[in-house]
Formats: sequence, C-alpha cells, structure tokens
Amino acid sequence: MIQIYDTDVVFHKEWYALKNINLKIEKGEFIFVTGPSGCGKTTLLRLMYMDLFPTKGEVIVAGFHSSSIKTKEIPFLRRKIGVICPDFKLLQDRDAFDNIAFALQVTGTARKLIKEKVLKTLADVHLSHKRDSFPFQLSGGEQQKVSIARALVREPFILLADEPTGNVDPESTKEILELLKDINASGTAVIMATHEIHLVQKSPFRKIAVKMGEVIEDTKDNLKEEIFLDKL
Ligand SMILES: Nc1ncnc2c1ncn2[C@@H]1O[C@H](COP(=O)(O)OP(=O)(O)O)[C@@H](O)[C@H]1O
Ligand SMILES: [Mg+2]
Repeated sequence: MIQIYDTDVVFHKEWYALKNINLKIEKGEFIFVTGPSGCGKTTLLRLMYMDLFPTKGEVIVAGFHSSSIKTKEIPFLRRKIGVICPDFKLLQDRDAFDNIAFALQVTGTARKLIKEKVLKTLADVHLSHKRDSFPFQLSGGEQQKVSIARALVREPFILLADEPTGNVDPESTKEILELLKDINASGTAVIMATHEIHLVQKSPFRKIAVKMGEVIEDTKDNLKEEIFLDKL
C-alpha cells in the first residue's frame, strides 16, 4: 500500500532530513514511528501523503508514484488519507459537527449523507454530546478527537497521526491511543509518529525507530531485496 525505495529528503541542498529510507507498509497495519524531536518523523509522514517529494528515490502510495503523480491527482490521493497533527487545526468559528462536516462539504457530498456520516463519526469518537461545542469549549483531548473524526469521516484507507498526543493530558492520551487502536481494528491502517517512547514500549505493534534521518530499527524488518522484488 505504501512503498518507499532508497529515499532521501534533503533540505537546502545539504541537510539530510531523511536518508536511505526503504519501507513497505501493508494494508491495515498499525505502526509507531518513534525517535527524538528533529529525527525526521514528520518528514516521513509528509512523504506518505505527498506533501513533500523525495530528493532521491521513490514513494508509491495506493498506486500513485511520487515521480509521476500529476498535480491534479494529488487531491484524489489525499481524500483517502487522513492526517492529524499535534495542534488539531480546527476551524475556530465552527462547532464540532461543522468542523467534521466541512471535510465532506469540500468533496461535494449530499447534505443528508453528510449529516448521517458526521453523526456516526461523532459517536465513533465518543463525542456525540459535544456536537454543538466550539473548539474553545473543548479540552485538548476533545479537540483532538474532533480532528480524528474529521479525518475519519472521509473513510480513509490510512490515518497518519503526527504526535496526536503532543498537546493533550495523560488521560486523553490513553483515550486517543485506544481510539486509534479501534480505528485500526475496523480496517484502517494507522501510522502514528511520536517522540514519547514510553507510550509505545509495551505495545505489540510494529515500531520503526528513526535517528538523524535514518531508520535504525524496524520490528518488522522487510529485507531490502524483498521490497525491490515487489517493485518489479
Ligand atoms: N521545510 C523544512 N526546511 C528545512 N529543514 C526542515 C524542514 N522540515 C524539516 N526540516 C529539518 O529536517 C529534520 C527533520 O525534521 P522533522 O521531520 O520535522 O522531525 P521530527 O518530526 O522527527 O521532529 C530537522 O532537522 C528539521 O529541522
Ligand atoms: Mg514532527
């Protein structure tokens, strides 16, 4: 579903944010990307939704190749990729319902269907009782759940969660992790980047550890040869 081949990302011609990345991610996987601040986690996620293109190498996501995707195809790819970030990025002048609905309005979904889907997704993130609340009336944890719902309502095949617990309290951190596991159990692949190693240490899920732009450990180590055979 996602393949990354011999990929480097270089900023300002000399700064290697990522170096020699080879990864294969299957449908429905749950993966933690870990490593200290500045190691390249966000850059790796940006490659996966083609917000950024490799300086060297190739990224293939859902059949789209970074070397050949057309600009007008990128929105179609993004519709099937949910992205959440540490600072929620909710629209401040819309309540929870409308923030989630907005994700469907921009794709031209019919109003009745939007209402149905938004109500279901609000229930999925256990926030039905907050549907009329504005972001300033919600805790950090609740805002993050709204942003998860906004990503989920488009029924993505993958959810990219960049430090989703970075700005929430410990109790909400647990709830958000549980929520991500539920989402994964229902079939969506989840890739969560975090520098909070204690959150993932005991988890049975695949872990990809990044250090200074390089993958230093992958608990499901695809042999490089195997990744390349797949490309043929
Ligand atoms: N747009 C950019 N321009 C220049 N340097 C960048 C840019 N984005 C990230 N970097 C650098 O690349 C490295 C990896 O950054 P990032 O992927 O954000 O790390 P992380 O998410 O693990 O904290 C850092 O050294 C960062 O300063
Ligand atoms: Mg980051």
